Amino acid sequence: MTPSDKTLLRFTTTGSVDDGKSTLIGRLLYETKSIFEDQYAAVEKTSKRRGQDEVDLALLLDGLSAEREQGITIDVAYRYFETPVRKFIIADTPGHTQYTRNMVTGASTADLAVILIDARHGILTQSKRHGFIVSLLQIPHLIVAVNKMDLVDYSQQVYEEIAAEYKEFSDKLDIQNIVFIPVSALKGDNVVNKSERMPWYGGATLLHYLENVHISADRNLIDFRFPVQYVIRPNLDFRGYAGKVTSGTISPGEEIVVLPSGKSSTIKSISTFDGELEEAFNPQSVVLTLNDEIDISRGDMIARKDNLPQLGNHLEATICWMDEKPLSTTSAYLLKHTTKTVRAYVSRIVYRIDVNTLHRDRGANTYLLNEIGRVEIKTASPIFFDPYRVNHGTGSFILIDPLTNTTAAAGMIRGPVRNVDELLEPVAAPASKQKTSPHTLWTGWNIARERREERHGHKGAVLWLTGYSGSGKSTIARDLEKELFAAGIHTMMLDGDSLRQGLCGDLGFSDKDRSENIRRVGEVARLFFEAGHLVICTFISPFEKDRSFVRSLLPEGRFFEIYVKCDLEVCKRRDPNGLYRKTLAGEIKEFTGISSPYEAPENPEITLETDLQSVKESIDRIVHQLKVAHIIEDHL
Ligand code: ADX
Repeated sequence: MTPSDKTLLRFTTTGSVDDGKSTLIGRLLYETKSIFEDQYAAVEKTSKRRGQDEVDLALLLDGLSAEREQGITIDVAYRYFETPVRKFIIADTPGHTQYTRNMVTGASTADLAVILIDARHGILTQSKRHGFIVSLLQIPHLIVAVNKMDLVDYSQQVYEEIAAEYKEFSDKLDIQNIVFIPVSALKGDNVVNKSERMPWYGGATLLHYLENVHISADRNLIDFRFPVQYVIRPNLDFRGYAGKVTSGTISPGEEIVVLPSGKSSTIKSISTFDGELEEAFNPQSVVLTLNDEIDISRGDMIARKDNLPQLGNHLEATICWMDEKPLSTTSAYLLKHTTKTVRAYVSRIVYRIDVNTLHRDRGANTYLLNEIGRVEIKTASPIFFDPYRVNHGTGSFILIDPLTNTTAAAGMIRGPVRNVDELLEPVAAPASKQKTSPHTLWTGWNIARERREERHGHKGAVLWLTGYSGSGKSTIARDLEKELFAAGIHTMMLDGDSLRQGLCGDLGFSDKDRSENIRRVGEVARLFFEAGHLVICTFISPFEKDRSFVRSLLPEGRFFEIYVKCDLEVCKRRDPNGLYRKTLAGEIKEFTGISSPYEAPENPEITLETDLQSVKESIDRIVHQLKVAHIIEDHL
């Protein structure tokens, strides 16, 4: 067997402070000859100096720990060793009571977990907590090592009582495979060599089990998922997509789809540092090239055409809180999922779990450090995911506190939130041109407009009347609204003169102020529209760009630009408020049509010619158009 043929087993070890975890790891390293002679000699010397009979293998780890990178917030040390059969990576996590987060971090990619229990003390809260996390993270294999058997005279009864009690607890969890091994890490019993002091134990030694446990079936080799990490474009002729195969396999020639664009292509080549591959699989990092030019960027996902992940922005997940600062349902977090980071918030705490009793506290409204439970999360933009149960890579995420940049939680996606509320609350994305304040999050309308429209019996829309002062906008709008209202339609009229009394009272008539006026009014119109109203707006709104901004706030087909056309001379003659007269007398500056420009609409939905048509004709024209567009049906 060449070294590369060896499988790799990742495992994690946890225990309480004095359970002998360091000694156990030290023994594994020592007996598999994974430490240097001089390291061992130094440890032997220290042990003798301290008057210890046995060489304290735990000291080995102290030496190794010193080399550890400092300043990392999550304290997990990875150690490597190998035997002729297999390679191993141990994620060694400190076992202090409160440091659940370390275990979650260290164990998230583990194939197997070893939980140590001190035979003298039996099962502690941590032993259960750790078992619960093994279940939560869906680590398929669990070894419960009942350690320090030498201190209980290698008693079969002590061992069996602990094993039975733990089994009773673990039966309530979702752990595929659990074995119990009585060991003494200090003396070496059943770690690497079979103990002669426990003839009553007929099972495998710890190392034998680690070497032989079957793990390949635990990987997801079916669902190809490739989150794009970088786009590589060294020259115009080459465009490659670098990333890690999160799950599944892929070969050149296979048909793929790029998300979110939905564009498809086929794989041209798979490259690595060591050359081209005929097949790539998890956990390889590769560069894919495609046969078609597709616009792809970091955070996109490549999947097989007929095997796609789910898309959603409202997820149910189990999270483990890792921050000193408690979870807040009113704070925004960053959710990092595969190669994508999106803004998110916890929209609901479903329950918090007591890991000791497995009791679910449904009244919980926060999580403190190391607390675990079920929540619902909303993301600012949708992510492509699979349930953690079927795909650890695309089913897990972390929440980051955007202010401190610390990892606030680790999470496992259960699936999309599906409840009645969800059906009633599609989250309409905000229009792209909107300005947003920092640290705020779009959370959607509480009740969907569609539900309101159903109740109203007509659709919402914005009728935007634009034209010169005196063109007749307000006159038409007032009569129109009365008619619609009388027919049972939910209406609202927004008029330039009225809104400039309050909301826009701080604005004048410079180009800039007019733009800001229309921006505010557009937003207000959108609010009434979302409330399911027919909103009639009468503003000179002289600039094309401002009118198209308002149009951009609304869905296709719901914005009616109505050009109230009237010859300027006629407007001047009408002069309902005497403003033309005042302007011409020099009392008013920047008056539209006289000293300020008006850009007539180029493609309005409706054009009314008020110098030629009556008010009634104009109103009929609008009502007709609303019926054609199915905004209103037989109301009028
Ligand atoms: S807009 O240009 O910003 O769209 P808006 O429709 O809100 O204008 O307000 C126009 C109304 O303000 C007019 O109907 C008129 O009564 C009044 N007004 C006062 N000064 C001016 C001005 N310089 N230009 C246009 N309208 C003015």
